[in-house]
Amino acid sequence: MPESRCLQGIWSSPWIFIFAAAGSAIGLGNIWKFPYMLGEHGGGAFLLIYCLCLVVVGLPMLMAEVALGRTVRSNPVDTVNDLAERRVVSKYWVVVPYVAGLTGLLILSFYSVIAGWAFAYSRRAVTGTLEQLNTVQSEALFQSFLNSPVEMLLWHSVFMGLVVIVVGQSVTRGLSNVVRILLPTLIFVLLLLAAYALVVGASADAIGFMFRLDWEQVTFDVALSAIGHALFSLGVGLGAMFSYGAYMSKRMSIAKACTIVVGLDLLVSILAALIIFPLTFEFGISADSGPSLPFVTLPIIFDLLPAGQAIGLVFFALLALAALTSAISMMELFVSWMHERFYIGRLKSAFLIGIGVWFCGIAIVLSFNHWDTKLLFDLNLFELVDNLTSLILLPMAAVALSVLVAWVIPEPMLKNEMIAKNPKHFRWWYTTLKYVSIPAAVLITVAGWIGV
Ligand code: PFF
Repeated sequence: MPESRCLQGIWSSPWIFIFAAAGSAIGLGNIWKFPYMLGEHGGGAFLLIYCLCLVVVGLPMLMAEVALGRTVRSNPVDTVNDLAERRVVSKYWVVVPYVAGLTGLLILSFYSVIAGWAFAYSRRAVTGTLEQLNTVQSEALFQSFLNSPVEMLLWHSVFMGLVVIVVGQSVTRGLSNVVRILLPTLIFVLLLLAAYALVVGASADAIGFMFRLDWEQVTFDVALSAIGHALFSLGVGLGAMFSYGAYMSKRMSIAKACTIVVGLDLLVSILAALIIFPLTFEFGISADSGPSLPFVTLPIIFDLLPAGQAIGLVFFALLALAALTSAISMMELFVSWMHERFYIGRLKSAFLIGIGVWFCGIAIVLSFNHWDTKLLFDLNLFELVDNLTSLILLPMAAVALSVLVAWVIPEPMLKNEMIAKNPKHFRWWYTTLKYVSIPAAVLITVAGWIGV
């Protein structure tokens, strides 16, 4: 496909690509979801399997998605249509990018609600509501927040409005300015907080919990969650990285860039856990208390710090911004497709899609309070959408995109694309993708379908 199909321009420097991709990867999945999953799945075993999944499943799939994007320089929908028209792939493949795009929007419908929590907590830090809370009060505060749908809806709306505005700009322009400052600041604040939490909290218990391997905890269920979360955390499978790859300069090494992204993603997850668990153990909060864990634990550390409320404000605002840079990539697939295929303005496309996602978000908001009803498999709507997307739809889409790269696109074309100076590296990636990453992700998808 000709290079002229790239309508949005190229990232101005290699580091901007890395920041943008890391901006998509690093978000609520690292700071909110990873610690509570680690808590629910027993610590060390989950962490070990998770790291393994990042390297042998996530990294090869991430490279595949970026490589495909850079090869074709178009959006995923048009790319697959084009390959089908040229009879390189069967016409049924056309379903894949639509499923990927819809999965992104489904994730966005709950992601936006949780990002709204971060905004609400930033505001609470300003108004002093988070001051002098003990564990019971912090839990009660969070519960009362969950019981107020109007406030949740308000912040969900603010977040969706911001997503629409940023995605409405050219991605290479809007995003690069934000992530350049955001990511280093976020990592710096997390480092400070982790150091402080380790000093004031029960650090020995926390480190034991996080890094001690208890073989009894290594179960099939833990492995499935770890693969699912590795894909979610890297943001592969939704065509987002595909779109970012499409803006990537040909001179850049995909392997190097993606390895750095995976490293940064893991670093942020571990830092988040190092903040939360010393406090969890110190203050007797249950490690497996689920989605509320970070929001109950963090206000306690801010209260212990000098100028804690200001730090709390900075932290929750950074969390909301990190969520914003991830949310952008969930919407990007359809926005770039509507723009490139139908010449609808980016802002208008983003607005139309945003309205749909906003409505779905209302149902998610209600599932935390008035409509907290078990709908299926003993799960409420939020839990259902979360499980459906991260255990079934996202791995399915990631597998499909990877199969396209590993089994359908001719090997010489890829070899060229990966700029593998060392042919062994290319072989390593290609073989792992074909025979390890794809089968492992297929396993999790099938297990998800049959409800293991
Ligand atoms: N990786 C993001 C996180 O960990 O919060 C979530 C995400 C972003 C998932 C982009 C999927 C995606 F395409």
